[in-house]
Amino acid sequence: MAQPDPSTQLPPPQHIAIIMDGNGRWAKKRGLPRTAGHSAGAEAFRRTANYCRTLGVKYLTVYAFSTENWKRSGEEVAGIMKLLGKYLQEALRDMEKNHVRFRFFGDLSRLSPELRQLCEEAQQRSGAYHEVQVNFCLNYGGRDEILRAVKAYAQDVAAGKQDVNTLTESGFAAYLDSAGVPDPELVIRPSGEMRVSNFLPWQTVYSEFVFMNVLWPDFGPAELDAAIAEYHRRNRRFGGA
Ligand code: FPP
Repeated sequence: MAQPDPSTQLPPPQHIAIIMDGNGRWAKKRGLPRTAGHSAGAEAFRRTANYCRTLGVKYLTVYAFSTENWKRSGEEVAGIMKLLGKYLQEALRDMEKNHVRFRFFGDLSRLSPELRQLCEEAQQRSGAYHEVQVNFCLNYGGRDEILRAVKAYAQDVAAGKQDVNTLTESGFAAYLDSAGVPDPELVIRPSGEMRVSNFLPWQTVYSEFVFMNVLWPDFGPAELDAAIAEYHRRNRRFGGA
């Protein structure tokens, strides 16, 4: 397993979020089908999650499938879902060894019953682990998350369980998929794109963004070290002077 770079001895952020972008371009450069890029992307995720655990990162949130990704070809969507299913099956098999806690952000109701079942089982069976928590964003969109939270909150108001006059930011955050998870200090987007793409809009208002010119399948410990080093060079002021 890769060891931490001694030049980045400062403590890592407790929560890192990653937009895993560039799988398609990685495959195209090699004359491979896009699905091969996602397969290599799943390997990059494994490497990165392992390294996060080595570093002591508490939360890793990854954008695995967005509410917009359904627009891709049926073959590509099926390929990504298959990779996720395979990963979760392995995670369930190795659960006692790896001690990774899983959470899922997004509207899981549109996933296949089999994949949904794997997500529910992974979340339930890993609930007591506390080394590192991986939050998979699946059929996730930030606006969709906020809208679902607003609807759930409005229902509680209508049922007399909430009083709109006493609503606070943290009270509302408890209705989001990320309830109970601290906001990410660092968001990484590889692939050279400089967009947020509907990823965690509520949670990232004070996050540091690091955009990198590497395609996600080529991402690994060295790139994570570089992003963390860049994060430590930033001066986080949270709106203060
Ligand atoms: C974006 O790259 C990536 C996705 C839409 C899918 C991400 C999925 C994975 C990394 C595999 C999931 C499985 C596990 C186990 C994490 P892109 O296809 O938009 O790349 P492009 O911009 O180069 O076309």
